[in-house]
Amino acid sequence: MDKKEIVQRLNEDLSGEFSAIIQYLTYAAKTTGPYRPQLAQFFLAEVADEQLHAQFLANKIVALGGEPTTQPRPVAPAKTIREMVQAVIKAERTAIADYTQRVKDAEAFGDKGLVVQLEDMVRDESTHAEETERILRDWPL
Ligand SMILES: [Fe+2]
Ligand SMILES: [Fe+2]
Repeated sequence: MDKKEIVQRLNEDLSGEFSAIIQYLTYAAKTTGPYRPQLAQFFLAEVADEQLHAQFLANKIVALGGEPTTQPRPVAPAKTIREMVQAVIKAERTAIADYTQRVKDAEAFGDKGLVVQLEDMVRDESTHAEETERILRDWPL
């Protein structure tokens, strides 16, 4: 794992974080019905975490001599609240898998600080996924 390779993979992660920010912001706006107050607030609260992840990645890419991407991954289209919640779980599970792999990449690259930070991000995304799965678990509609 050389510097160019780790920068490229961190840029893929950065695209994912930009996508998560857009996804939560858009879904919060699109949330309607009696659960709108709580769900919109829940989605918007996630934006702060994803922004911190994006900020870390952009800074780390620059520190490694790379150019941070400005391109988000496409956001899954969703019409109903159920579809939105399901799409969020899928995106968070993807983030967990990506960062779990990235921890191994950072170990191979030999950057302990990056390993620790990425492990924190696995923890954050696991919390996001579990919270959202608990919303869906007893979804009444
Ligand atoms: Fe994130
Ligand atoms: Fe997340």
